[in-house]
Amino acid sequence: MQLQPDRRSFMAGAFSSAAVLGGCRPAGAAAPTAAYGCAVRADMLDRDRAYAAAVASRCRTVVPESALKWLDLRPSPDRFDFANADRIAAFAARHGLGLRGHTLAWYGAMPAWTEAVTARAEAQRLLTDHIETVVSRYRGLIGSWDVVNEPIPDQPASRDDLRPFAWSRALGLDYISLAFRAAAAADPAARLVLNEYDLEYLGERYAARRAGLLHVLRRLVDGGVPIHAVGLQAHLMPDRPLDRDGLQTFLREVRAMGLNVMVTELDVVDATLPGDVAQRDARVAASAQAFLTLVAEVSPPTDILTWGISDRYTWVPMYFTRSDGLPNRPLPLDADMNPKPLMAVIERFTRASP
Ligand code: G3I
Repeated sequence: MQLQPDRRSFMAGAFSSAAVLGGCRPAGAAAPTAAYGCAVRADMLDRDRAYAAAVASRCRTVVPESALKWLDLRPSPDRFDFANADRIAAFAARHGLGLRGHTLAWYGAMPAWTEAVTARAEAQRLLTDHIETVVSRYRGLIGSWDVVNEPIPDQPASRDDLRPFAWSRALGLDYISLAFRAAAAADPAARLVLNEYDLEYLGERYAARRAGLLHVLRRLVDGGVPIHAVGLQAHLMPDRPLDRDGLQTFLREVRAMGLNVMVTELDVVDATLPGDVAQRDARVAASAQAFLTLVAEVSPPTDILTWGISDRYTWVPMYFTRSDGLPNRPLPLDADMNPKPLMAVIERFTRASP
């Protein structure tokens, strides 16, 4: 398999003018209760100086929003395209930022050629090769991976229900343990995360999703699969009631399995909130405050990342446009990189404890 320049050439390039790996906290700064970070876009980091400066000054960690997904990395069965992921890794190294990997197995961004994969042995080989190649390339640079993203169907029919796609069709639940074992073998030091959405609110669907995820986690942990944390994506819906008991019971069971908790994709879908900016920003901040408070009462998250940092670049309008036509305001900085009340909420949960 002809790969792009090998790891050595990437490492040489990334560190030619970069700070020492792993970054450095300001002298004397106390360790935060959680590290704040955000998802980033390689093209915008290169083109938008204000955006790049905001990320570099406010974040401790970055995660590629799309560059490490199969769809971006694997244009064909015999090729890897690391160009965008390498640009983000170099940006992180230049600014002394940590780096997360998202994601090694997800139904949501699979290249068309994988639809033809049906045989068990072929699926095992392709998934293992992919993870070995990608994780080893960034060994020592990427500190944690969303190994598997969104394994639970949007509306699970039972706790055994898995999201259908190439790997689950060919391997069933085994694809998840295979992915985590392959990632651990490729980088024993990386923290390995199972990442999921829609776990926060009252309702049968949310309860079923929490039950399905717990069922997967128990089978992984009981099977000795190397997994370290659960990622709560936290794409919050402020009009829905948080399920305090349901969420906190879920988190207690996660902790009882010896797993940590991360908030991995926080933003607040403001599509149904008032148009008035001050009111909307306040509701967005209150929604995040309420959620983070519930989580922290049971399991202070090790990391809090938002899915983007500025309203200038957000996925939200791809699916949740406002009926009044106003631009969405889901993130900590507005489109001009000015902090909003949500930024203050995040700083309360990510600054050093009082
Ligand atoms: O890079 C191409 C570009 O060359 C092309 O011109 C353009 C027009 O089609 O598409 C660009 O790719 C887009 C990609 O984002 C990079 O910007 C894809 O179409 C678009 O579908 C993709 O959307 C991303 C989506 O995941 C699917 O991968 C969103 O930006 C990203 O925010 C979203 O993130 C997901 C997490 O991975 C998992 N949790 C939910 C979250 C939000 O949906």
